[in-house]
Amino acid sequence: MKNNTRISKKTNIHAPIVEALKTAYNNPTYQFHIPGHTKGLGTLTDFRNLVGKKALQVDTTDEFDNLGTLTPATGPIKEAQELAAEAFGAKRTFFLLNGSTIGNLTIAMGLTKKGQKVIVNRNCHRSVLTGLIISGADPLWVLPEKFSQWGLWGNVKAQDIEKLLDKNDDVSMVWITNPTYEGVVSDIKAIADICRKYDVPLIVDEAHGCLWNFNSKLPETSLKLGADIVVHSLHKTGGSMSQSSMLHISKDSKINADDVERALMLLHTTSPSLMLLGSLDAARANLQSEKGQRQLNRAISNAKYLRSEIDKMEHIHQLKSDFGYKTDVTKIFIKADGLSGKRLESILEIDFGIEVESASDEGILILSNIGNKRSDFKYLAQCLHKIDTHDYKDIYYMENKRHMPMLTPIIKKSLRNAYFSEKEIIPKEQAIGRLSGEVVAECPPGISILLPGELITEEHLPYLTDYETIEVLK
Ligand SMILES: Cc1ncc(COP(=O)(O)O)c(C=O)c1O
Repeated sequence: MKNNTRISKKTNIHAPIVEALKTAYNNPTYQFHIPGHTKGLGTLTDFRNLVGKKALQVDTTDEFDNLGTLTPATGPIKEAQELAAEAFGAKRTFFLLNGSTIGNLTIAMGLTKKGQKVIVNRNCHRSVLTGLIISGADPLWVLPEKFSQWGLWGNVKAQDIEKLLDKNDDVSMVWITNPTYEGVVSDIKAIADICRKYDVPLIVDEAHGCLWNFNSKLPETSLKLGADIVVHSLHKTGGSMSQSSMLHISKDSKINADDVERALMLLHTTSPSLMLLGSLDAARANLQSEKGQRQLNRAISNAKYLRSEIDKMEHIHQLKSDFGYKTDVTKIFIKADGLSGKRLESILEIDFGIEVESASDEGILILSNIGNKRSDFKYLAQCLHKIDTHDYKDIYYMENKRHMPMLTPIIKKSLRNAYFSEKEIIPKEQAIGRLSGEVVAECPPGISILLPGELITEEHLPYLTDYETIEVLK
């Protein structure tokens, strides 16, 4: 039988933070320290009843109850990070609070300096840009393929990175998002080979790919393909609680882990939530367990089931792997003839009580998660079949806003200089021809429409329907 798993299934799963929290819960002390709700008594009763007494009893921060510290990592937290490094195939792993956002800020602050050039894909998350504003490094944009008929950014081409490296001998690093939000995968192996040839580190924002190391039917993880640092939003698809992520340094990387740790220490909260850290430990342990492996196999099989149902539909289409790029099977981007993505999203929500991950101009994104049941997907497929055979033209719906920025930027001033320049706020209609003073990037997907120092043109207006004013440079 073919072994589908990339990691061996573990039956004796050890989760040190979870175990330490359990011990603390079972051995309560008289508490005269933060958090001041003191095991949930000092808060609204309705809230306590909603989240449960136990949740508040284990809501504590590091240093207490023998739980260890996050910075520097000690005790169960240190052990949990080491187990995560082993599970993801990294030399060092850091647990992150405040999501992959803080991972990206840390990378920029720890590894780049003012005036250095960094090759970045234009559809990167806004946290990458915030990082570059903080450090003062200048982005050299690489534009991925445009999948125009899907209204999406596609894969980053290795030859485009090589061209930029060839023209600029002062690039300090290459920073790529992989996969895209919608699951399009770039050829990281080829990009890593080029980075090695030019001796620059490769950073991969793999926020949406944290499951890959746990099942061979998913794309190969960038850590294995030659990236130096990889960031994973475990809370997005890995099963940990919102805001909890991981940053991994690869086994072969020349990057000094201490530089990364020092920057992280400056950015991290000094009161880390043990509940969030415990949820990272639990997510890693779950993914390595028999149960987690079953859940992941089920997520893949649910996705394949939905995809096979969509293939039977006449007016609903799905993004699939194609020549030149691969996709993550668990991220299903679909579009329906005659319906915008936003309209399809609202039909699913209003008529069928279904909430999808996101909607863009052309289509919607559905995630097949480890927590979903097959019955969820049967219901979704049934509803899509109904939409496929129903004429929705009679529904009143007006949507003049565009959602997926795919414009080529006109850069007039460097990011950091523009961000720290004198600015004023003016009505958006008067902003055409002026330089943006702010990062305009709505979430999801958090991809920038305008950055400080970029020329505002007529083309931007359809993306700014929610804005009455915009900040521009004086
Ligand atoms: C590609 C990418 N990187 C980073 C982030 C930030 O992640 P987090 O929400 O975990 O801070 C996101 C969030 O959507 C993202 O899509």
